[in-house]
Amino acid sequence: MNETTPTYWDYLDLPTLLNAQSGLGDGNIGPDELHFIIVHQAYELWFKLVLSQVRLARDHLVLPEVPEEAVPEVVHNINRVNEIMRLAVDQMKVMETLTPLDFLDFRDKLVPSSGFQSFQMRELEILLGLEEAQRLHYGKVNPLTHIQKLAETSPGGAMAWGRIEAARNEVSLREALHRWLYRTPIQGSTPDMEGDEDVVMEFLQAYLDRGAESRNIQADRLAALSDDPDAVRARFAGMAESARAFMMAEDIEGSEAKTNRIRRIRAALLFVESYRELPLLAWPRLLVDTVVELEEQIVIWRHRHARMVERLIGRRVGTGGSAGVAYLDKTTAYRVFPELWAVRSMLSPRRARPEVKNVELYAFGDTVGKR
Ligand code: HEM
Repeated sequence: MNETTPTYWDYLDLPTLLNAQSGLGDGNIGPDELHFIIVHQAYELWFKLVLSQVRLARDHLVLPEVPEEAVPEVVHNINRVNEIMRLAVDQMKVMETLTPLDFLDFRDKLVPSSGFQSFQMRELEILLGLEEAQRLHYGKVNPLTHIQKLAETSPGGAMAWGRIEAARNEVSLREALHRWLYRTPIQGSTPDMEGDEDVVMEFLQAYLDRGAESRNIQADRLAALSDDPDAVRARFAGMAESARAFMMAEDIEGSEAKTNRIRRIRAALLFVESYRELPLLAWPRLLVDTVVELEEQIVIWRHRHARMVERLIGRRVGTGGSAGVAYLDKTTAYRVFPELWAVRSMLSPRRARPEVKNVELYAFGDTVGKR
């Protein structure tokens, strides 16, 4: 039998990888364009790994009952993504060794291709759970339709559009996280128990009432120092009211069931963030924190990319036809996990938390932990 000897180059398919830098195939690649292509390709390889790790995390969280030991696995997957994104931010420095003038030597021929068409980045946005209503358009162009249109005539088009369409049919990380958070025991109560909605309401009310005491003390102190004490008090009252409306999910449109679901998810986040010393909440809190970091890293990446672009092309129109830096800066406002951020402005100090009921249920090994 003629067995193939395992080699480094075959294992990594280096002949394919190292022959994939011919650009538009005109055989005219100078050293700066080689640099430009390799930096982009390195990003796309990282994005491939990021997508696979996010899918693993999502697959764990989407189970109807997530075993306790799966939670550290999710943290592990998302931590890996966070480290990659940190590196991806630093990697912009390598891109910046291209000077504006050297870029101009080959920039024109790239039009209309652009990172705008990075279908893996779009896939990631969809997989994380970015809502279509949030997605920015430039002029009348929707970034996804833009890819669909170009895909019709380009050799890589079937893959580009196919991947986006497939991602749209998947459960997003956000949805999986919501399903899992929804089942969180709050004051020992789970959604399948009778009276659960009352328990959730009671917890939220107690939390908001006790938080108000601590806020009032702050308002009084600042009002005493201010020329306009009423304005200070009004600011605190406005903050308290928006916290209440948010926790009660008053912003949610649709059925009562939908509002109750979102209210329970937000209450769960508040519960997990507030009582992390309870053994059964320690990993869930870490998981939530890791997802916050993931979103933070992506926002930082968007900022960093925009600054690198500003340094290289100033305020020019992008090769993809957008307003360039002005467009990119607006994308930094995207938030896929707004609840995870919002809950931070609702937290009360430990001394002002309502007492935990059924505390014994939050010890390790209890069935209440199987969500
Ligand atoms: C010389 C370097 C670069 C320049 C001048 C540049 C410029 C731009 C501009 C102007 C846009 C807005 C769309 C357009 O009108 O074209 C854009 C979008 C984008 N670029 Fe870059 N880019 C560079 C490098 C990179 C690199 C290394 C990556 C890594 C993958 C990247 C990924 C992206 C992505 C994902 C978008 C879409 C952002 C969004 O729509 O949210 N770019 N780029």
